[in-house]
Amino acid sequence: MQNLLHGGDYNPDQWLDQPKIIDEDFRLFPLAGVNTVSIGIFAWTRLEPSDGVYDFSWLDTLMNRLAKAGMKAILATPSGAKPAWMSQKYPEILRCAPNRERDLQGERHNHCYTSPVYRRKAVEINSRLAERYQAHPALLMWHVSNEYGGECHCPLCQQAFRSWLKHRYGDLESLNKAWWTDFWSHRYTDWSQLESPAPNGERSVHGLNLDWKRFVDDQSLQFFLTEAAPLREITPKTPVVVNMMGTYPGLNYWNWAPHVDQITWDSYPRWHNPQHDDLDEAALTAFVHDLNRSLKQGKPWLLMESTPSQVNWQPVNRLKRPGLHRLASLQAVAHGSDSVLYFQWRKGRGAFEKFHGAVVDHEGSENTRTFAEVAQVGTDLKALAAVVGTRVPAQAAVIYDWENRWAIDDFAGYNRPERDYPAAVSGFHRALWNRSVAVDVPNQDQVLSAYKLVVAPWLYLVKPGTEQRLQEFVEKGGTLVLTFFSGWVNETDLTNLGGFPGPLRKLAGVWAEELDPLWKGQTNSALPVPNNDLGLGGTYGITSFCELVHPEGSEVLATYGSDWYAGRPVLTRNRVGKGEVYYLAAHTDRRFVDDLMAALAKRSGVAAVIEGLPHGVVAERRTDGTTDTVFTFNFNTHEAGGLAPLGVKWEERPAGKRG
Ligand code: GLA
Ligand code: ZN
Repeated sequence: MQNLLHGGDYNPDQWLDQPKIIDEDFRLFPLAGVNTVSIGIFAWTRLEPSDGVYDFSWLDTLMNRLAKAGMKAILATPSGAKPAWMSQKYPEILRCAPNRERDLQGERHNHCYTSPVYRRKAVEINSRLAERYQAHPALLMWHVSNEYGGECHCPLCQQAFRSWLKHRYGDLESLNKAWWTDFWSHRYTDWSQLESPAPNGERSVHGLNLDWKRFVDDQSLQFFLTEAAPLREITPKTPVVVNMMGTYPGLNYWNWAPHVDQITWDSYPRWHNPQHDDLDEAALTAFVHDLNRSLKQGKPWLLMESTPSQVNWQPVNRLKRPGLHRLASLQAVAHGSDSVLYFQWRKGRGAFEKFHGAVVDHEGSENTRTFAEVAQVGTDLKALAAVVGTRVPAQAAVIYDWENRWAIDDFAGYNRPERDYPAAVSGFHRALWNRSVAVDVPNQDQVLSAYKLVVAPWLYLVKPGTEQRLQEFVEKGGTLVLTFFSGWVNETDLTNLGGFPGPLRKLAGVWAEELDPLWKGQTNSALPVPNNDLGLGGTYGITSFCELVHPEGSEVLATYGSDWYAGRPVLTRNRVGKGEVYYLAAHTDRRFVDDLMAALAKRSGVAAVIEGLPHGVVAERRTDGTTDTVFTFNFNTHEAGGLAPLGVKWEERPAGKRG
């Protein structure tokens, strides 16, 4: 039987002059139940101290030692940080900022992804790593680079952007049309005039902004594919992964997912923060776990990084209170992770991350609270080995779409401060998660036939094909929830003519004529119509966004309580084929979203893993089709649902049996 991976980022390259410390690491690994380490992530200068001169001796020793200890290595390629000699010798590898100023050497994650030199240097060292360790018993998988991200505006990237645009649009006239460039006389008359968006240049052409984001995503992906090519060729059986960053807005991970063997992500919830309570933080974390699981259609993923205690990059870096580390780690496993991995194994003595949490503190022994909590997780993961490879079945989905987010974040108008797409989507996710309903998080391009209930919050940018997919889903009996901000623009960010929600107007059965944004402090209310069959009653709050819609064949289930549009629809239902489409016209309060989602889960036959758990107690399920492992988490700091404060338990059950 395979094990769940436990361990994380290990940097012996920072301690090469202190072999006793490395000896200690190998004494401590088994005490923490650690079986896997990620190594060499930022080790380029140690591996290639000068151009073309390589030194793998220390890595050989380490790999051999890991193998001897029965441990595995997630071996990194080092492109996440470049050596000083390389920047000095080849300045083109240094990234340029949006204002076209070139970076100096330093920091990390800041190479130009177009530079042929950087690509060549990455391929050269990756080939050597792959050749050297291809048959090594410790090699488990390739950790390619680290947290790809950011953008480069250098002349090489400008040139690549122009070629990319030529390829996309063919001729300049099509580009001008797609971007609406007669606005402020921004029409391009020659390809050479095209430039990336800049604070001191163009930033008002939304089509350009959107295409630049697509280009950055694509160019970063091409860089990854280039550096991964020798790994694929020399070690075709060794999985290749990149560590992703949740809802990081700079890359569209849906485009990356088909090119990696497994999804892995770095999760750093902001526990104990004053903005919202830990239950909300757990809900947000669950949302991103579900998004990561969905990127590869439910295939188990890896928690590649998490902190064993605190981080160091927030303004205030709280410790995890006792028990929370175990809760958060097993939460990832319950959402489909086949690992609990950390940044970092041991605290370094110097530089930026010396006070970032680690399994081993500067104190150096196994006698710390953090070490004990990590060791407890190690014990749990051993006991949970049977979940490796099992799935998290979901009948409900909430759509989260990167391109849609890019367009929403960019437009001018309406209510800027409250325009938070991830919060809108995760709010609907939370309403289901709270009730122990498993949720997938697809984008708008995915097939939806596996679901009974799909929520598509703020689907502002509707791509070709989406309307048909949604229509088919509903006709076959699905329940779809749409909201205000639906169907406003097309793929190049041109507004749809003929009334919003554009291509979704017929499906929704509403015409959304106007949107009234509210200032902070201004409110309206939602009044469910008496005796509605969703069981909604009383008065609910509304803030930020009030859309004014006309039902076109749909029935009205709730109306505005005040202002000049009192009595106009807030919630409608359109029956289409065997299914139903709900349209929510306003930004209703959390209670309304909770009650609506509870009613729709019930009505559409979406079952909870366990029904009726107390507030803050959530159940999750993984299954191999025969046996379910059902986890129950108590996110409260008091006893609830038979669990201690921050307690967690799991049990095995025959598949499909409901609690
Ligand atoms: C990121 C990086 C790590 C480390 C952690 C600190 O996830 O990948 O190298 O810097 O943040 O939280
Ligand atoms: Zn560049």
